[in-house]
Amino acid sequence: MEDLKSLFKNIYRDSEEKINLFYSPGRVNLIGEHTDYNGGFVFPCALDIGTLAAIRKRNDNKVLFSSFNFPLKIESSINNIVYSKEEDWANYPKGVLKILQDLGYKISGFEVMFKGNIPNGAGLSSSASIELAMAVAINELYKLNIDMVDLIKISQRAENEFVGVNCGIMDQFAVGMGKKDNAILLNCNTLEYKYVPLNLQGYKIIICNTNKRRELADSKYNERRNECEKGLRYLQTVLNVKKLGEITVEDYNKYCNLILENKVRKRVKHVVYENNRVLKAVKALEEKDLVNFGQLMIDSHASLKEDYEVTGEELDTLVDEALKIEGVLGSRMTGAGFGGCTVSLVKNTHVEHFKKIVTKNYKDKIGYEPTMYVVGIGDGAKKIKEDMLWQF
Ligand code: GLA
Repeated sequence: MEDLKSLFKNIYRDSEEKINLFYSPGRVNLIGEHTDYNGGFVFPCALDIGTLAAIRKRNDNKVLFSSFNFPLKIESSINNIVYSKEEDWANYPKGVLKILQDLGYKISGFEVMFKGNIPNGAGLSSSASIELAMAVAINELYKLNIDMVDLIKISQRAENEFVGVNCGIMDQFAVGMGKKDNAILLNCNTLEYKYVPLNLQGYKIIICNTNKRRELADSKYNERRNECEKGLRYLQTVLNVKKLGEITVEDYNKYCNLILENKVRKRVKHVVYENNRVLKAVKALEEKDLVNFGQLMIDSHASLKEDYEVTGEELDTLVDEALKIEGVLGSRMTGAGFGGCTVSLVKNTHVEHFKKIVTKNYKDKIGYEPTMYVVGIGDGAKKIKEDMLWQF
């Protein structure tokens, strides 16, 4: 066990000021991919891995950032929070600060140290995790009284406007609102949500990281967003809708011929059907029908592969190999795609076999090993007491 507070004291000077601790998880999306920015449904949950933040106020205008995971230490003035490519991970918490300042909140100097155990660049939302860790910490430290949904929106704005990644609301929402042993059905249009207990009846969620570098992810992500907007404009000539997420499967089938480009039609098809699958999956889970839930995961992956075209050889291989194993009910890519992770539903008794065989077969085909994580479903971002540090 590493005691973050003593690490913190090693890095920063001694001070009488109290050190406060905060925790913020990563997330995995069970189903509902590339639907959030289309105003559709998603069904993510927070993980029991995440980011710790130890923070205390200073009595000057300096803001100091450090991380147990990276060597970089950053010093800024609270009056000059600007994006800097070299400052890498620190741009996420800096972005949250900047948006809070833009909204008129007064923040003085502080020093913060982060420590995380979410694999980086794996598509498990390490960036949303650090954003929300910063947001809840600042909210508490400066008694800003901002509610969680607003902290979530502020964190998303930090990522969109300060870091320049055009993500939807899903990651920040799951990280902020997560609840132990529950997934969240979220309507990304209205932000209405409900918790659904993840009663997995002898099955486990296994996350497999392709370990592929996510190179083109951002440009392809934006390309998909543009294609969706184009598809929406075709359908708006006959339907009174603001987002693709409002379109039913019936209306899609009735009017899809209005979408002239085949590629754009396929993108819209994915969004409309995936949205529908989320509701079916939630129903299946509530009815304790894990077989059906697993099938919907499989259908989701097929649609992301064939119609949305965001998978790639590595993700497809992981899913194909997973589905060959006995005791696997479903498997699909999770997150933006083009790399990152898959999520699979595997029977408890078959987990070790699954890990061994999928690792071997993936390595044989792709040339390097994937990483497997058997995860638990945890709570959203919050203040923690020292005795919770043992979890890290
Ligand atoms: C990334 C984005 C999310 C969402 C997913 C795809 O994780 O950050 O907002 O769009 O991709 O479902």
